[in-house]
Order: sequence, then structure tokens, then C-alpha cells
Amino acid sequence: MANSFIVSLLLSVLCIASASSQSTAPVGSPTGTPISAQEFIKVSCNVTTDPIICVDSLSPYASLIQESPRRLIFTAVNVSLANIQSTMTLVDNLKKMKGLTFIESGLLSSCSEMFVLGQRDLSTSKAQLDDMYKSKRPDFKQHFEDAKMSIGGAGDNFFMCNYEFDLRKEVVKLRALVIPTVVNVTHILSNTLDLVAKFANATG
Ligand SMILES: *[C@@H]1O[C@H](CO)[C@@H](O)[C@H](O)[C@H]1NC(C)=O
Ligand SMILES: *[C@@H]1O[C@H](CO)[C@@H](O)[C@H](O)[C@H]1NC(C)=O
Ligand SMILES: *[C@@H]1O[C@H](CO)[C@@H](O)[C@H](O)[C@H]1NC(C)=O
Repeated sequence: MANSFIVSLLLSVLCIASASSQSTAPVGSPTGTPISAQEFIKVSCNVTTDPIICVDSLSPYASLIQESPRRLIFTAVNVSLANIQSTMTLVDNLKKMKGLTFIESGLLSSCSEMFVLGQRDLSTSKAQLDDMYKSKRPDFKQHFEDAKMSIGGAGDNFFMCNYEFDLRKEVVKLRALVIPTVVNVTHILSNTLDLVAKFANATG
């Protein structure tokens, strides 16, 4: 815990230093080793629930993120929204499948409704994160709490879909199609929450 706090503090100090410096030298660790954007993502993801998914989902955006905690967080939210969107598309397509049982259609409709709420919550968090970055203590803390609540709320909606499927063990085939994607979204959302918490604690 203490270690990761120091690392994140160090990273934010380095980012501020690099932003305010005119030098073209790469951002470096105290020993002078260059920290690449990929390394920044790896170190940042190390505090998340699922570092492997975190690194996999963010590293395609390394050149955009550079070593900016703010861009890392917004990219994580964007990636989460994209995952939510593709999960919603999957479920919408499954709903059109012929021969669904009453229970199967009900599960899909219920998940669909929850995903809409989750998508809304996560979209709301973007504005709250924007406000957070624009504000100072104690407003910063309030916007951070609001954003945390929204991202957590989005996650809850996906957990609920998973939970409803769990209550229907007989729905085997549909579960195999839906649940891996839903679980992926819950991991990506909880990673996003961890990243927001890490950097808000370091800079707030
Ligand atoms: C991640 O954390 C572990 C345990 O604290 C540490 O051994 C490892 O070097 C860290 N990896 C990165 C990329 O920071
Ligand atoms: C996130 O998505 C929004 C809208 O799609 C875009 O304007 C913004 O640049 C993206 N941010 C990052 C860091 O990718
Ligand atoms: C989970 O999300 C990642 C990142 O968006 C994606 O590459 C991967 O295919 C997803 N896996 C599943 C099972 O949906």
C-alpha cells in the first residue's frame, strides 16, 4: 500500500516536472531510467483488481496516454464505455434469436435494461471527472466521490445481470455466450475505479 502510494506520488511529480520543463529529455525514474508510456501503464495497472486486463485494454492507447494520469483515466473510461457498448450489442442480437424460452428472453431484457443504466452512470462519471480535474480541495474530493459512485453504480448493474443468470442455472448456453463478456466489463470497470482512486488520492 505504502509502496504504491509512493510510486503514484512519484509518477505525478514526474509528470508535473515534465509538463513544466522545456527539456526534450524523456521522463525518467530517479535513477535516470526512461519510463515509457507502456511502463507507465504497467505500473499504474499494478494497483488494479485485474492488472492483466488493465494492461491489455489500455496499452493500445499508450501513445495517446503518454505518462498522463488524466489521459489514462479518461482512456480507461472510454474503453469501459466501448466494452459496455459491445456487450449491449451482443445482448440485443441474442434477444432477436429464434426459439428463446420465456426465461431466456426475460433474462436478456432485464440485463439490457440494467446495461442502459450502467452506460448512463458511466457517461455521467466523465463530466464528474472533468469537474474533479478543474477543481481544488474540498470540491475536488466531492467530485471524486461523485465519480466513484457513478463508476461503482455502473459496475453494480453488470454484477446484477451476472447475478440474475446465476439464479438460473438451467440457462446453460446463453450463460456461456453472455457471462464472459459481462464479467469482462465488471473487471474493466473495477480497474477503472482503482485507477481513478489511485490518482485522485495522489493528486487530490
Ligand atoms: C507490481 O507489483 C509487484 C508487487 O508489489 C512488484 O513486484 C512488481 O514489480 C510490480 N510491477 C510493476 C510493473 O510495477
Ligand atoms: C474519450 O472519448 C471522447 C468522446 O468519444 C473523446 O472526445 C476523448 O478525446 C476521449 N478521451 C481519451 C483520453 O481518449
Ligand atoms: C475483454 O475486454 C478486452 C478489452 O476491451 C477485449 O480485448 C477482450 O476481447 C474482452 N474479452 C471478452 C471475453 O469479452
